[in-house]
Amino acid sequence: MYYEEMLKKVKELQKKSDITILGIESSCDETSVAVVKNGREVLSNVISTQIDIHTRFGGVVPEVASRNHLMAFNGVLDSALKQANVTLHDIDAIAVTYGAGLIGALMVGVTFAKTLAYSLNIPLIAVNHIRGHMCANYISHKDLTPPFVGLIVSGGHTAIVKVDNYTDFKVIGSTLDDAIGECYDKVARVIGLGYPGGPKVDKCAKEGKYSIKFVKDKLKKSYDSSFSGLKTAVINYVHSLNQKGKELPINDICASFQCEAVLPLVEKTLRAAKNFGYKKVCMAGGVSANKFLRESLSSGGKEQGIEVYYPEMSLCTDNAAMIASQGYFNLINNVGISGLDLDAVSSINLE
Ligand code: KG4
Ligand code: ZN
Repeated sequence: MYYEEMLKKVKELQKKSDITILGIESSCDETSVAVVKNGREVLSNVISTQIDIHTRFGGVVPEVASRNHLMAFNGVLDSALKQANVTLHDIDAIAVTYGAGLIGALMVGVTFAKTLAYSLNIPLIAVNHIRGHMCANYISHKDLTPPFVGLIVSGGHTAIVKVDNYTDFKVIGSTLDDAIGECYDKVARVIGLGYPGGPKVDKCAKEGKYSIKFVKDKLKKSYDSSFSGLKTAVINYVHSLNQKGKELPINDICASFQCEAVLPLVEKTLRAAKNFGYKKVCMAGGVSANKFLRESLSSGGKEQGIEVYYPEMSLCTDNAAMIASQGYFNLINNVGISGLDLDAVSSINLE
């Protein structure tokens, strides 16, 4: 009953000039609720981070994350509505991350979203978290439109994709093993920088130089990438210095790791854009906050006449504004309109 009624409501909404969406995100350790108009205008984007809670464990503990989402959601929702200066009755639809992510954490967000959608009698829209990351670009760059090549660099994914419209990805290349963000976190842990690792490695790398050769890119001609060999090489290097009782050249390890992780990806992304005839490249995911990656892709793009986009810093890591944005594009394209049986999914294909 609810679903059939909502399909009709979606048709009516598609005729409206303004659509206001409430976005809900809880795939990892950020509880976030946002109010976004027409996919690009952020009225509020409240993020309650659990970083301090997980830091003492050296990484995200899934069950602890779920419990904290449960406790945080009501307060985060209240703040998001207040900051946007709206009430729940001004909301046209609820968009929620249903995957990929930690299953328990996702279930809290999905249940919260279903409850709101049902009680307000408005559509529920399922959003793929990674596609959501790409939408952060539409918020940061109001005139940006597909087609473009996307570089996805997050804690769980690393891929180069064709984005020909707002709701569809075609994978050109992806990691054959670990995701790049996972690798940043692991390297940070092994050299004692702690959690969350990416931003700390980024910072130390600035003070160091590329003086250690860890691995060669064996997939040089491909669009695919691999990070597990690099990760293992860094771990072995660190263990061998530790065994000899030598001091770790932290900054140089970070700079060298970063060059070997980032530069092949930059080359592959720009090569994909050139070979497939795209004039624009957009980055998305937590690692797109990395300064070296941003600078390398931008300067490479400039040399080759390709425009490079990345989201503003605050939208690179997990947030609900990007989910509401993808929710809007899903809604106007009849994608992800869901019934109350919507399930959380720990891993989903990008396509
Ligand atoms: O996209 P995201 O927030 O979560 C997933 O959807 O996976 O990405 C989190 C990842 C973590 O691995 C984190 O270490 C990394 O993004 N990250 C960074 C930086 N900021 C966050 N990695 C490198 N440099 C950064 N500045
Ligand atoms: Zn994410």
